[in-house]
Amino acid sequence: AKPKIVLGIESSCDETAVALVTSDRTIIAEKIASQIEEHAPYGGVVPEIAARAHAEKLAPMLKAVMDEAGLSLADCDAIAATAGPGLIGGVMVGLVTAKALAMASDTPLLAINHLEGHALSPRLANPDLEFPYLLLLVSGGHCQILLVEGVGEYRRLATTIDDALGEAFDKSAKVLGLGYPGGPALEKLAMQGDPQAVPLPRPLKGSKEPHFSFAGLKSAVLRAKDSGEHTDADIAASFQQAAVDCLIDRLEYALERIETPGNLVVAGGVAANQTIRTALEKLAQRHGMRFTAPPMALCTDNAAMIAWAGCERLPLGVFDPLDVAARPRWPL
Ligand code: KG4
Ligand code: ZN
Repeated sequence: AKPKIVLGIESSCDETAVALVTSDRTIIAEKIASQIEEHAPYGGVVPEIAARAHAEKLAPMLKAVMDEAGLSLADCDAIAATAGPGLIGGVMVGLVTAKALAMASDTPLLAINHLEGHALSPRLANPDLEFPYLLLLVSGGHCQILLVEGVGEYRRLATTIDDALGEAFDKSAKVLGLGYPGGPALEKLAMQGDPQAVPLPRPLKGSKEPHFSFAGLKSAVLRAKDSGEHTDADIAASFQQAAVDCLIDRLEYALERIETPGNLVVAGGVAANQTIRTALEKLAQRHGMRFTAPPMALCTDNAAMIAWAGCERLPLGVFDPLDVAARPRWPL
């Protein structure tokens, strides 16, 4: 059969993104516009500024992607847009745009959960990644352990009770004067530091509640900086080590509670972190699992993962009505 084509739109945070993806895993065309410059002066994402930027950028990007592919909406089998969770103004810009396109071209609409996009993205890059897999989803907004058993079948084994890990990286980087977003800069600084130098807490380590907590770690970083007793590099390295220890402890605990799946997968922006990747690879080895990390462009927010989630949903034949709601909160 001819491969299906899905148009994907992502606008839930500070990335405006559009992609055309086929059911046989080809990204035909994609565009992504980051708003880092718009938000950097404020040290974080400002929802109102984000929504306005999406409203400005989205339509021209859609046109550019369709033109580049040489396709029209009539060639698409579905239009998929992130419908949540995320900053509601931005989500509404993307979802309403998708509704208008779907209505005007009489194309089915798919309202995609952003987390489902992240959860299924590894299968876009890795055709042989089969269900079930254990997924560590670590981004600026999310920190979860999911057992992905199939399309639409997600068992959440752990989530954060306060900050997401990327948020903890960003806030700690801010304390160290590293700018926004601070994750990559903190990782770089950590390479020059001693990961054992600063005693930092491992929140919830060993806990029988299957969750994460990073707020206390961030506060401890602030105290370490204020004490004046440590170099910034030592604080960065020690923070990163504490974060890794927490991730591995929680994953070990999750693995105790389920039948070990064949694959361990990481997704989300924090998956760029090499220290975290190495620790996950070792964990996978210990448990006889295969470790998969999608390419970075698929880890951070993008529209190809939303279009791909649409492709995965197509065989189910369930589409969304034009009055489907945008949802600021939407657990998987
Ligand atoms: O997935 P993503 O692009 O957006 C969200 O959905 O949040 O993730 C962005 C997050 C930011 O918090 C950023 O600091 C973090 O990912 N990040 C990193 C690294 N690269 C990006 N954190 C640690 N180490 C990195 N190398
Ligand atoms: Zn995301």
